[in-house]
Amino acid sequence: EFTTVLFVILVLNASKHIVALCGAGLSAESGVPTFRGEGGFWRTFQATELATPKAFEKNPSRVWEFYHYRRELVLTKKPNRAHKALVDFEKKVLSANPKTQTFAVITQNVDGLSSNIKNLIEMHGSLFKTRCTKCGDRTENYDSPIALALKGTENSQFDINLPIEKLPSCSKCKGLLRPDVVWFGECLDNDILMKIDVELERCDLLLVIGTSGLVYPAAAYASIVSARGGKIAVFNIEKTYDADFEFIGSCGEILGNALMVNDGEDKHE
Ligand code: NAD
Ligand code: APR
Repeated sequence: EFTTVLFVILVLNASKHIVALCGAGLSAESGVPTFRGEGGFWRTFQATELATPKAFEKNPSRVWEFYHYRRELVLTKKPNRAHKALVDFEKKVLSANPKTQTFAVITQNVDGLSSNIKNLIEMHGSLFKTRCTKCGDRTENYDSPIALALKGTENSQFDINLPIEKLPSCSKCKGLLRPDVVWFGECLDNDILMKIDVELERCDLLLVIGTSGLVYPAAAYASIVSARGGKIAVFNIEKTYDADFEFIGSCGEILGNALMVNDGEDKHE
C-alpha cells in the first residue's frame, strides 16, 4: 500500500534512532484485555479501588487479588504477531546496521509479553515483580501465599479479603509486598525516567502502538519527539491522535508489514 511504501522508504530506512511506545493494544490480539476499550479492565472495575496507593492502603487483599488475577490470566497468553514483529525488527536492526540504527521499546504494559525484546523499558513495572513496602527490595519471582489461598476459587470479584499476614511478605524484612507496578497518582521510577529521556532525546522516529495516549507521562512522548523534529507513526485500531503516519488496523496485522519483517507468522515459533 502507498502509505506503507512511503513510510518505509522516506522514514523507516532513513531513521537512526527508532523508539516504539506501546500500550495495551499491543497485547489485545493475545487476548489480554485493554483498559479503556471494549472489554477493558476499567470498564468493569473501578481503577480508583484497584490501582492507586490509597486502594492498597485501604484493602491490600483486594488489590493483590486483582493483580494475582491479571498475572494468572497473562500466564495463559502468548506473544502475538505484533510482539513478534518488534522482536524481528530489533534483530534486523542489530544484525544489519548496528552502528547506524538503534531501536528501543518503551512499554506501558506489565504483562511480560515483550520479554523477548533486548532493549526493553517496562515503564509501568511488571506483574511478575514485587516490591517491599518497608525496605523497598525488589523480587522477580514470588511464592505467593495469595496463589495458594485463591487456588480453585472463582476470584474475579476480588472479595476474598485475606488478612494481612496471609498476603505476600518480604523474605528479608517480613514487610508487606506490593506488586511492582506504577499506580495512578504515583511517580515513575527515576532510573526508568532517565532511560526514557535518553531514548526520546535522540529519537527521530516514534512508533506509537496500541495506546490511547490518555495516561501521562507516556501521553506526552509523541509531542516531545515531534517538537524536536522526529516523525510519529501511530498504529491503532482507531483514530487516536494526529501523526505523520497513521496506520489504522490491528497491530498484529499491520505492524509487520510496516516494519518490513512480515515473513509469515509461523516462521517465528
Ligand atoms: P493520574 O494518573 O492519577 O490521573 C490522570 C487522569 O486520568 C486524571 O484525570 C484521572 O482522573 C484520570 N484517571 C485516573 N485513573 C484512571 C483510570 N484508571 N482510568 C481512566 N482515567 C483515570 O494523575 P496524573 O497526575 O495525570 O499522572 C499521570 C501519571 O504520570 C501518574 O500516574 C504517574 O505515573 C505519572 N507521573 C509521573 C511524574 C514523575 O515521574 N515525576 C509526575 C507526575 C505524574
Ligand atoms: N491493535 C492496535 N491497537 C489496538 C488493538 C489492536 N489489536 N486493540 C486495541 N487497540 C488500541 C485501542 O484503540 C486503544 O487506543 O489500544 C489502545 C488501548 O488503550 P488503553 O486501554 O487506554 O491502554 P493504554 O493506553 O495502554 O493505557 C495506558 O493506563 O490504566 C493505565 O497503567 C495502565 O499502562 C496502562 C495505561
